[in-house]
Amino acid sequence: MASSSNRVSAAALFLAIMAAAAAVMVTTVHGQGTRVGFYSTTCPRVETIVRSAVQSRFNSDSTVAAGLLRMHFHDCFVQGCDGSVLISGAGTERTAIPNLSLNGFTVIDDAKTQLEAACPGVVSCADILALAARDAVVLANGPTWAVPTGRRDGRISVAQEALDNLPGPSDSVDSQIQKFTDRNLSVQDLVTLTGGHTLGTASCATFNDRLFNYQGTGGPDPSIAAAFLPTLRSFCPQNNNGAARVAMDTGSQNRFDTSYFTNIRNGRGVLESDQRLWSDNRTGNFVRRYLGLSGLLGLTFNVEFGRAMVRMGNVGVRTGTNGEIRRVCSAVN
Ligand code: HEM
Repeated sequence: MASSSNRVSAAALFLAIMAAAAAVMVTTVHGQGTRVGFYSTTCPRVETIVRSAVQSRFNSDSTVAAGLLRMHFHDCFVQGCDGSVLISGAGTERTAIPNLSLNGFTVIDDAKTQLEAACPGVVSCADILALAARDAVVLANGPTWAVPTGRRDGRISVAQEALDNLPGPSDSVDSQIQKFTDRNLSVQDLVTLTGGHTLGTASCATFNDRLFNYQGTGGPDPSIAAAFLPTLRSFCPQNNNGAARVAMDTGSQNRFDTSYFTNIRNGRGVLESDQRLWSDNRTGNFVRRYLGLSGLLGLTFNVEFGRAMVRMGNVGVRTGTNGEIRRVCSAVN
């Protein structure tokens, strides 16, 4: 009796060890290995320096908050969060169309210059960007969260990879979900992180196709609320050159809040990809939960956003001896 129970507990122990080993493998594959306070002895002022660089630019141009948040997302979705979006030069990610409107590169450069003076060769550009995105959200009245650090910078930056991997404004819900789950991010993460569209603007070029001749119908996208259509058309008249920019969260583009979700609920989403999140139940249920609509357990956007940013910030990171610490963020060493 005793020996059979010993065998059972030995088997249970073996299974537990195997499960733990598998968990370690999964975390390694998905690039965790970052930790809060990675620079606490090697560069203790890192967070202060990054925050002051973001703050000083924000003081003269508050649109930089949205720019830095989007830049971190575009970094993480192409080659992982490795600073590859920051590299300039012919054919780099930065030259791909979705990245031409990124805003805030000079903030990262300023922070890097100060960090190289304070602790040379220590802090990666990928980490500077992750910290700056958090600081930007805080300045826009959003939540704060502890940013794990220890990412190292990559050396590969290819424009075509940005085009292939970044979600686009006409993407179906299936395609959006796929691009997130490919990176081990959930449907909830998709809805939560696209809630980042509570900040910032989109150019008419990214949604012109919805306004006058949607999918060749000769009329507008029927999911645009009738009362909202004239507003969008007045910002982006027929045959415009695509350059004008429109707040994605009408009425509160500089404020981090849940009104973006209210807007998509009311047919006031600017991007087609955003509006689609409301009408598909897989994603719409999370929108309802953020809005506290009845029947489903509520979710608090500010809390979940920070958690989702930490998950996104771990996508494909290089740690240890993988990658490098760039001397300047716009060029590999
Ligand atoms: C399915 C996913 C997503 C799609 C299709 C998408 C698409 C877009 C598009 C088309 C724009 C306008 C770009 C322009 O015209 O310059 C934009 C802006 C923006 N996106 Fe996303 N996005 C997605 C997810 C995200 C995520 C995950 C974040 C952050 C966590 C984010 C943050 C932003 C911000 C802050 C802006 C405004 C930028 C500014 O004003 O400078 N987006 N997005």
